[in-house]
Amino acid sequence: MAEIIDGKAVAARVKENVKKRAEEFEGKYSRKVGLAVIKAGNNPASEIYVRNKIKACEACNIKSFSYDFDDAVTEAELIKLIRKLNKDKNVDGILVQLPLPKGIDERAVLSEISPTKDADGFHAVNAGKLFLGEKTRFVACTPRGIMELINSTGVKIAGLRAVVVGRSNIVGKPIATLLLNADATVTVCHSKTVNLADITREADILVAAVGKKKFITADMVKRGAVVIDVGMNRDEEGLFGDVDFENVKEVAGYITPVPGGVGPMTIAMLLMNTVDGAFDE
Ligand code: GUN
Repeated sequence: MAEIIDGKAVAARVKENVKKRAEEFEGKYSRKVGLAVIKAGNNPASEIYVRNKIKACEACNIKSFSYDFDDAVTEAELIKLIRKLNKDKNVDGILVQLPLPKGIDERAVLSEISPTKDADGFHAVNAGKLFLGEKTRFVACTPRGIMELINSTGVKIAGLRAVVVGRSNIVGKPIATLLLNADATVTVCHSKTVNLADITREADILVAAVGKKKFITADMVKRGAVVIDVGMNRDEEGLFGDVDFENVKEVAGYITPVPGGVGPMTIAMLLMNTVDGAFDE
């Protein structure tokens, strides 16, 4: 049976470190590290994420500046706020919670965030640096958290076969890049992939980021693999990952649960990015 990777425990260690560094920052610069959190619309998942991000800031001695718009917000209003925050000396990180309401061009909004305050690492400059293998202080939070979780197992990534299922800009592409930069042999699968199970069965490291409840079944997993479940699928029965946890845990070597796996890491790494960015200015 697989060892369960305790994302809450790993995240708690990261946050403890963030808090220490945020206190150090305040001692040195006589102000708190600041994170601006922008939400637009009332996506139920976003409501929860944003609330948790703001709570986590408080717990780590980071000042949060919260901006809440309704569905009717325009691209121009969001861009105006971002330009103001880019110049604000008390703001070290800016985060725009995704998805944005229909009709708003997400890339147009995200590209307005100064690459030096891009706490989520979604700006093309930071995504590009990651792609080129250049040092960047802002790597997308969920992928950065996944790397911490894999490293927490003690498994050495170099030379292993890694398979990422999902090719989103916020998880699939950046985690594939991080794994490649760590010398894994990486395959990215997606909705058009033919014979998916034949590919996932070769994975020593399997990252599921598809957004479909229990999509990865035990027959798709190699014995002993590290299985990372990024899914957050809510329905009337509760919250489920992309992995059929109960059956896959009998086959995998390590597995993240949902909740309590990748989720807590996303927030911890956001705070870490924010503090890193503050010290770097
Ligand atoms: N929506 C889903 N995940 C994320 C994330 O990590 N950051 C932001 N800003 N929005 C998201």
